[in-house]
Amino acid sequence: MNKIAIISGVSREMGLGYETAKQLKAIGFNVIITAREIAKANLLANQLGVSAKQLDVTDDNSVSLLVRQIEIEFGKLDVLVNNAGSYFDQAGNPLTTEMQFVKEAFDTNLLGAWRMIKAFYGLLEKSESPRIVNVSSGAGSFGDPVFGLAHHFSKVPVYGITKLALNGLTVKIATQLKDSRIKINSVDPGFTATYPGTEQFGARSVSEGAKGIVWAATLPQEGPTGGFYRDGQKMSW
Ligand SMILES: NC(=O)c1ccc[n+]([C@@H]2O[C@H](COP(=O)([O-])OP(=O)(O)OC[C@H]3O[C@@H](n4cnc5c(N)ncnc54)[C@H](OP(=O)(O)O)[C@@H]3O)[C@@H](O)[C@H]2O)c1
Repeated sequence: MNKIAIISGVSREMGLGYETAKQLKAIGFNVIITAREIAKANLLANQLGVSAKQLDVTDDNSVSLLVRQIEIEFGKLDVLVNNAGSYFDQAGNPLTTEMQFVKEAFDTNLLGAWRMIKAFYGLLEKSESPRIVNVSSGAGSFGDPVFGLAHHFSKVPVYGITKLALNGLTVKIATQLKDSRIKINSVDPGFTATYPGTEQFGARSVSEGAKGIVWAATLPQEGPTGGFYRDGQKMSW
């Protein structure tokens, strides 16, 4: 049986999720793309020649239903890519931001990945080489020289803090799973042109951005776990 990969947050052809699905399919994965709106996922799945399922990562019922579907169809999961993420509060101000916005951002960017990992843990354990990729961001690190948390250019406080927390989740799950075959890493795709016009500000191609996600999804057994990477290179937290 081919390896099975699930990717969350695949609703746009320009997005990193779509490109990750394309690259994983090209190397033989059976890819299931997911989106909140199944019509969007179906359209993209038809283009890619993969399958689609509905998934809202903030909804326990939606997550449980997907787990049951994958269990019945495949009985295992090899790769989980937690790509769904949003709430890019450009020019945000942590002193005036609405707490409802903060809660929703955490529910998607942090708890969404956490819910998915908890829900799919049992099926991942049934894989011979299970991998979890948390799609993070340099905006959630202290080390990123341009977009990092403490850099003056970084004006995405809520988004940045959710990705900082996501990196913390990666470390804690990796520690908990140190005796398991499951590897989990955070990946920063880098500033990537997933929205029109961003190239002119230096964003790189989506195919380049997605490569690091695919790298972490296909790590060999001696590969790392519990780290933060861009393009397969370790980044500082
Ligand atoms: N592009 C960059 O420069 C960059 C840099 C660093 C990190 N990232 C990260 O890369 C990931 C993909 O971003 P992208 O740039 O490709 O943008 P994107 O296409 O907007 O991806 C975000 C996806 O998350 C989905 N989503 C939001 N809330 C969701 C929920 N509750 N349940 C399921 N899906 C949900 C969105 O779907 P809807 O259409 O339903 O809203 C959308 O498909 C994100 O985690 C982002 O933070 C991107």
